[in-house]
Order: sequence, then C-alpha cells, then structure tokens
Amino acid sequence: MIDNLEKLHEEVTGRLERCASEEEIEQIRIDYLGRKGGKLTALMRGLRELPADQRPRAGQELNRRRGEIEGLLETRLDDLRRNRGRPMDQGPRLDVTLPGNRVERGRVHPLTRVTDEIIDVFTGMGFEIARGPDVEDDYHNFEALNIPRDHPARDMQDTFFVSDDHVLRTHTSPVQIRIMEQRRPPLQIIAPGAVYRHDDDATHSPVFHQVEGFMVDHDISFGDLKGVLTLFLEQIFQDEVRVRFRPSFFPFTEPSAEVDIGCILCRGARDAGNCRVCRGSGWLEILGSGMIDPNVFGFVGYDAEAFSGFAFGMGVERIAMLKYGMDDIRLFFQNDIRFLRQFPP
Ligand code: PHE
Repeated sequence: MIDNLEKLHEEVTGRLERCASEEEIEQIRIDYLGRKGGKLTALMRGLRELPADQRPRAGQELNRRRGEIEGLLETRLDDLRRNRGRPMDQGPRLDVTLPGNRVERGRVHPLTRVTDEIIDVFTGMGFEIARGPDVEDDYHNFEALNIPRDHPARDMQDTFFVSDDHVLRTHTSPVQIRIMEQRRPPLQIIAPGAVYRHDDDATHSPVFHQVEGFMVDHDISFGDLKGVLTLFLEQIFQDEVRVRFRPSFFPFTEPSAEVDIGCILCRGARDAGNCRVCRGSGWLEILGSGMIDPNVFGFVGYDAEAFSGFAFGMGVERIAMLKYGMDDIRLFFQNDIRFLRQFPP
C-alpha cells in the first residue's frame, strides 16, 4: 500500500511536469483524486479491507499523500496561470537558478606580452616603432647590410628563399636600411617582427621574433649603446641584473658586441657547474649589437664622417623563455590552451 502510494506520487509529478494546460491538470486531478475511478480514491476505499490494526497508519499516510498531491496540482496551476502567454510556456521549462555558461576570457599571448614590454621600455626612452616586410629582397636583407653575395657571413643564417632574390627575412636588420633610405638622422627606432630561419629544435623555431633597434645622430658613441642597452635589460629583467658586453662580429656593425646577462637561474653561483640554463658559464647571451658600419651608411647615402650610430637585435622568444623559465621554444607555437592559461590575463 505504502509502495503504491509512492508510485502514484511519482506518476503525478511526472505528468505535471509534462502538462501544459489547465485542462491537463484537471484531468490529472480526476485520474487520481476523482470521486469515481480516481486511483488514490480507490486506495482509500481499499482501507476497509485492511486488518484493523493497520488501518490508522495507512489512513494517515493516504491523507498525507492526498494533501501533497492537491498541493502539487495547485502549485502547477498557479505556475501556468502566471506564465500564460510567456515564451517559457511554449518551450522547455527554464530554471533561472542554474549557473550560467561561463564565457572564457581570452588573454594576450606570452610573446605578444613580452614584445609589448620591450616596446614600452624603448618608447619610454624616446624610440619610435617601425615595421618592414617579411618577404624581403636580397639587397635589404644582405647586400646593404654589408653581407655581399658569396660572403661567408651568409652562412650564419640559414635562409628560406622565396625566389632568386627574395627571401623570408632572416633578421629585422633590413628595417634599418629601409628607414635610413627614407629618412635623415636623428633617428631612434625599434622594429619588432617575425623572422625566419631554416632551423628547428627545442631552442630554435623556423619562425621567431626579433626586436631591432638603432639610433643615429651626430656623435653617437659606444657609451650610448651601453647605456641604452643596460637600462633596457635592467627594466626587462628587473632587479640589478648583471650585464656584460663581449666582443663579437656582425658584418653590419663595427665594433660589434654580444650582450650577456648574469644567469637568472643560478646567478653565477660557485656550484653553477650543472646549471641547466647557462650550463655553468654564469652568463646568458641576450642580444647582438654594435656601432653601425660606415659601409652601411654608404649604402643609404649617409655621410659616415658626419654621423654615427648603434644598432642592436634581440630574440623575443629567448627573452620570454628566460623570463618565464621555459626550456622549449615550441610551446609558444603549439597554442596548447593548458600552456597559454598559465599566463595571467
Ligand atoms: N641581426 C643580428 C642577428 O639577427 C642581430 C644584430 C642586430 C646585431 C643589429 C647587431 C646589430 O643576429
């Protein structure tokens, strides 16, 4: 009997949920509570057949259930009347208390972020931003940068050729040439952008990004180069980063220097022998730089006696990897959401 009641109750709730009109509700009332043929009414009649000692409890239970069902019918009827004519009435029922679908917020890619930080530091020092084409001609990518055809320095960069004399630029230095061809000093320019080299492993990607920079005016000295780059590195890597200028060679600068910073992981500690970032040297190469070679000024028609300047170029991925402690450049380009989510919005 109790089981039967439970089943009836479930039936009623099920039907109520599906019903959409007052008539249907009335039908449910008749089917269960109707004087003749109502299922619950029938159970009440059956009370008589129960042994006398079970009757009171069963009677109580029956009354309780009837009250409940009457309540349900009433509530549903109210609902329907209140919502009559509303869109909800036609479609499935809407539970406005359910949590909504969360909208995923996008965030800036770590490389864009680091590029923006680099740009901010230089614009703060008065540099302007310039851009050049990704498909570059041989003249701007090599020739005018003092790298003649068949010069062994071309081997430093494994080039993607687009045609006999067009390449995917192997560095951002051609932007120096394009700007100097069009403008006269004083110039203080940075040029961010993608560059391409035939190289692919954990620390080299065939597409990566550089920020080029250069400054040309009367009496620009190596001291200016050191000052600007030291200030830049201190701002990008914060705290008192150690900076070292090491003699090097680039065809388009003379003298040339590579700039290292003190290893940000082991900080050059005595037991740095197996530091996985600097491999025990205590230093990390961070950018190439130098005083613009007089031959380059010759290509753009500047008087090398009257003007001097410095230039530098840095890899954005490398700086980002050091900043974020990463050891695989490919993570930047796989766009794995689990990687990208680690950078706060
Ligand atoms: N273009 C050089 C490179 O890609 C970097 C550089 C730029 C060096 C400007 C000196 C001056 O390696």
